[in-house]
Amino acid sequence: MSAPNKSYDPVEVTALQPAELDKARDAALAAIAAASDLDDLKAVRLAHAGDRSPLALANREIGALPPQAKAEAGKRVGAARGAVAQAMKKRQAELEEERDQRVLVEETVDVTLPWDRAPRGARHPLTTLQERMADVFVAMGFEVSEGPEVEAGWFNFDALNFKPDHPARSMQDTFFVESEESDVVMRTHTSPVQIRSLLSRELPVYVVAPGRTFRTDELDATHAPVFHQLEGLAVDEGLTMADLRGAIDAFVTGMFGGGLKTRFRPSYFPFTEPSAEVDMQCFVCHGASAEPGGEPCRTCSSEGWIELGGCGMVNPRVLVACGIDTTRYSGWAFGLGVERTLMFRHGVEDMHDMVEGDVRFTLPFGMEI
Ligand code: DAH
Repeated sequence: MSAPNKSYDPVEVTALQPAELDKARDAALAAIAAASDLDDLKAVRLAHAGDRSPLALANREIGALPPQAKAEAGKRVGAARGAVAQAMKKRQAELEEERDQRVLVEETVDVTLPWDRAPRGARHPLTTLQERMADVFVAMGFEVSEGPEVEAGWFNFDALNFKPDHPARSMQDTFFVESEESDVVMRTHTSPVQIRSLLSRELPVYVVAPGRTFRTDELDATHAPVFHQLEGLAVDEGLTMADLRGAIDAFVTGMFGGGLKTRFRPSYFPFTEPSAEVDMQCFVCHGASAEPGGEPCRTCSSEGWIELGGCGMVNPRVLVACGIDTTRYSGWAFGLGVERTLMFRHGVEDMHDMVEGDVRFTLPFGMEI
């Protein structure tokens, strides 16, 4: 093997020539200065400081130099690479700072903006009131029962002891699905659920049935063709009208507070015998408006009493239609109007408000679910 070439001049190796090194360094510095973001700078690092960059190649050439030339060449290459590394570091810091500032602006979240710009809906007050009325009975141990809104005439009328010529069976009052002869109706009350409950449940039966009902009434301040009722039915051994009265009293207390009297007035329904209209003492004036010299009361029109609905002892004919032994069982039932209750309980004066769907009417009732 020959001895190292003592006459080898590092300046002769192109890559190590000072001018070449300066050129490579300056190109690197210019590219670093021109990098406008961190991705750019990454590409610049690869091109000017990576393994295949001119300065890295020059560095590799040093190894081939004779020992006496290595130091000087190493110094020159080291200085150039050091200048590039330093500039790279500085630019990296600048660009990171810039990015952080930009992210702060671009990704700002204004936590003071309203988060609920899409207004939340509310359930209709009729729905919530109907459920609340039913709940008072559920608390007494009643179950909630349901029936179809399109009902067979037998359930809506016959089984409830309506005679075939009863006026309610005419087109005047009742919506018939298809023809009058088809005897399929939109239920005119929730009472058919009494029949369905008695036919499908074991005795004793204690149920309430809230739901929609239909009659051919024009929409006006106090009528609507679609309205809601809450039906109640209890059939058990030994039930009397006193139990009915007690349940109604407990309902009034649950809905309107204690200390209000109730009263029964004789009435007539085909499916109850005896039948009654039930009134409660006005929960606003407690009857004072009807006394001589009493302040007028809008809630009860100064009657002192508010009509709640109909009730009575279940007519034995209804029990017989459901195959129930009337020597052993008796029952009572009631029907309450939900719209009526909403009107007097909340001072709603016009039925239109309940059907028009204006949120200015429904929202004040709150978001109760
Ligand atoms: N179904 C009757 C109506 O719509 C209301 C009613 C009255 C229901 C007396 C009853 C009852 O259960 O006992 O007018």
